[in-house]
Amino acid sequence: MAKYAPEKYWEERLKKDFSLGGVGFLGLGVQYNKWLYKARLRALTKLLKASQINPQGKRILDIGVGTGFYVDYWKERGAKSITGIDITEKSISMLKTKYPGYEFIKADISSKELSIKEKFDVITAFDVLFHIVEEAKFEQAIANIRKLSHQETQILITDSFLKEPRPSGFHEYDRTMDGYKEALIKTELEPVITMPIFYYMNNPIDKNRLNSRLLRSVVSMVWRLIAMLPLLRRLGAFGEAIGYLVGLILYMVDGITLRYAKDGPSSKLLLAQLEDVEGSKCL
Ligand SMILES: C[S@@+](CC[C@H](N)C(=O)[O-])C[C@H]1O[C@@H](n2cnc3c(N)ncnc32)[C@H](O)[C@@H]1O
Repeated sequence: MAKYAPEKYWEERLKKDFSLGGVGFLGLGVQYNKWLYKARLRALTKLLKASQINPQGKRILDIGVGTGFYVDYWKERGAKSITGIDITEKSISMLKTKYPGYEFIKADISSKELSIKEKFDVITAFDVLFHIVEEAKFEQAIANIRKLSHQETQILITDSFLKEPRPSGFHEYDRTMDGYKEALIKTELEPVITMPIFYYMNNPIDKNRLNSRLLRSVVSMVWRLIAMLPLLRRLGAFGEAIGYLVGLILYMVDGITLRYAKDGPSSKLLLAQLEDVEGSKCL
């Protein structure tokens, strides 16, 4: 099998499908992915509130901006500026046309030659760092994020932050929480808080984090059912309608579950900032 070439892979993937179905969980369809994205916004809003982060008047950097899903979110909350970077020409050209008031730059966050000199108040890397499969490049990406930060920058990252290591896949390497901590601390950044984004809705690759054997079996069983959605997509609009309904139900169930659950078996949202920022409590 050919080696993962990020630029080529993402250019082809986004050209084929420039929608939430293309940047989101491949194969699950646009309708199910819409609910996954709604759940991501729910977690983001909860974390901003819990950490008293107000985007009003802030300079936002969105790394791996993709279809620009989060641009409107920051815009509605009064961000002063929004800059998006992405490894693909497709994302940057589409977003320049859609949002002429904001800046979009084609760049690889894992490059040693990243030429952006500005500093940002809020930096997000949503579902992008696990697509950097080489360790040296991952460390370079974290070092670049540090360079783009000032003393008070709030860094928001979504990933699985696994309890136990997993082997790397073709275009995805899910790292452990300990691995992340190590990489962040090397650049004087520290994780402050994590929040689970999903409970049942996403692939439970971090289910070993859950204490109960019964819960581990239930999340696996639910995922086996969700993983059948790609088969239904052959049915066209009917398949998408089922995806919508399953997404809606699980979105509500996750909402209730996550009111009580501190840990989740899949993606989490992490807030990191520079060490020794006043009031910060490292994880
Ligand atoms: C899974 S998608 C997520 C997109 C968006 N953040 C979201 O949550 O909808 C990953 C995005 O990161 C971009 N990407 C992948 N590797 C990158 C890199 N090394 N530097 C910058 N962007 C990258 C891809 O082109 C793609 O748009």
